[in-house]
Amino acid sequence: MQPAEGVRFVHSAIDTDVRALEAEAFAAETDAQLDAYAARFSLFHAIAKTHNDGEEVSLFPELDRRLPRVAATYLFDHEDEAALFDAITGQVAAARGASPVTRPSELAKLRRHAVALTEHVTAHVRKENTLITPLVMELFTPPEQAAHVQAMIGTFSPELLAKALPWIVANNVFDERCAYVGMMQRVMPPERFPVACGWIKAGIGDAAWSAIAAKVPGLPV
Ligand SMILES: [Fe+2]
Ligand SMILES: [Fe+2]
Repeated sequence: MQPAEGVRFVHSAIDTDVRALEAEAFAAETDAQLDAYAARFSLFHAIAKTHNDGEEVSLFPELDRRLPRVAATYLFDHEDEAALFDAITGQVAAARGASPVTRPSELAKLRRHAVALTEHVTAHVRKENTLITPLVMELFTPPEQAAHVQAMIGTFSPELLAKALPWIVANNVFDERCAYVGMMQRVMPPERFPVACGWIKAGIGDAAWSAIAAKVPGLPV
C-alpha cells in the first residue's frame, strides 16, 4: 500500500458519516434531537473542512506543478461543499429556534440540504479515490506522497486530531479499521503512535479497541 492510498480511510469515514447525518436530519424533530444533530454535524464539518484544507495546501499545489488544471475541479467541489456546510449550520440553528408552527418548514429546508450534502460529498470522495489517488501514485514517489500526507495531517490541531482519529476508525468497517491502525503503526513516529492509540481507544471504547488489538500485533492494550 502506497501512502497516497491511505486517504481512502478518511474518505470512507466521510462517506459513512454524511449518510448517517442525513438519516439523523430526517429523524430530528425535538430540541434534544436537533442539539444532538448539531453537535454531530459540527464535528463532521470540522473534520471534512480540515481534510479539504489539507488537500488544498499540500496535494493540490504539488499536483498543479506536475499536471496543471486538474486540481481546480476538486477545489471547485470544495467551495460548493463549504457553501452547503454554511447553509446547514444556519438551517439547524433556524429549526432549533423555530416555533412549533414554523419548525416543519425549517426542517424541510435542512433535510433538503442534508440530501444535497450527501450527494455532493459522496461523489467527491469517490471521484478522488477513483481518479486522484491513482494519478498521485503515478506522478509522485512514495516518499513524496508521504510528505503530502504529513502536510495534510499537519493542518489538524492536536485537539481536532484527537477527535478525528477515533472518528475515522469508528466510521470504517472492521477490516479497514485494522488496516488503518496498522498503517499508522508503520508510518507514525514511534513516540507519537501510542498517543494516537490512546485517542482512538478513548473514542471507540475498550471493547472495540481490544478487537483491533487482537488482529493487529504490537498495539498498546
Ligand atoms: Fe477533496
Ligand atoms: Fe479528499
